[in-house]
Amino acid sequence: MYILAVIVRKGGAGKSTLAFSAACDAAEHGYRVLLVSADPQGDSARWAKGPDARIRPDDRFESPHGFSVLYSANVPPADELTAYDLVIVDLPPVAEAVMWVRPHMWLMPMDGRNALEDTLPILRAMRSQGGKMVFVPNKADAAGMGTEQVLREGIQAAMRLQPGSVCLDSIPDSAAVARVGEYALPPWKTPYGPKTLGAAAVRVVCAYVRAAAGKPKARTKPKTTANVASRWR
Ligand SMILES: Nc1ncnc2c1ncn2[C@@H]1O[C@H](COP(=O)(O)OP(=O)(O)OP(=O)(O)O)[C@@H](O)[C@H]1O
Ligand SMILES: [Mg+2]
Repeated sequence: MYILAVIVRKGGAGKSTLAFSAACDAAEHGYRVLLVSADPQGDSARWAKGPDARIRPDDRFESPHGFSVLYSANVPPADELTAYDLVIVDLPPVAEAVMWVRPHMWLMPMDGRNALEDTLPILRAMRSQGGKMVFVPNKADAAGMGTEQVLREGIQAAMRLQPGSVCLDSIPDSAAVARVGEYALPPWKTPYGPKTLGAAAVRVVCAYVRAAAGKPKARTKPKTTANVASRWR
């Protein structure tokens, strides 16, 4: 079981988009996935349920995309998550959230200099929780190459502070990615999405997550989330 936490201490950087996309991608590849939507906003859980879906705190359900979902700030402890190959936690953009989970990987979408500057103060706390740190410049557009260059330099500096951290290729500003919430679909399934650079770039990040998580174990999937959830009470 591999735990991925998606975090950035700035709203709107792309956490829920990446968390939901990574869950869809891993499920498509045969992983047993639990997506924990720990942000009260609950975007990734709502998208996992379907377009215009409604969710309530502590809801647990199976997504039509083939993974289990928990909408709660109480991330179950690791020993209760052994039924899953991959657990993805979509965290809110607040410093305290760092202490809610001890992940194998912190995935940090960075949509600009502010996202990096706001997140720097919590890197030390993240390091104390363990886990590899992975930065992903997000929403990079042609006009903003200068901005991306500045962001990349900032990320390089942060990586020197945090040995072992990694910066992946940028995800471009992309209509296919922007439509994820509207259609409740990963970017490679949104209208006109499959052939876009945005969808391809998100897939690269998802493939990186899968490679880090290792191959899924050959076992039968738990029948319902409720079976597993009963042990969390
Ligand atoms: N690469 C991208 N290109 C275009 N739009 C994007 C991209 N990544 C994310 N977005 C859009 O940016 C907005 C914020 O994304 P998202 O909800 O994933 O961010 P978040 O970090 O989870 O925000 P919050 O802190 O509010 O939970 C959404 O409308 C999403 O569609
Ligand atoms: Mg979000």
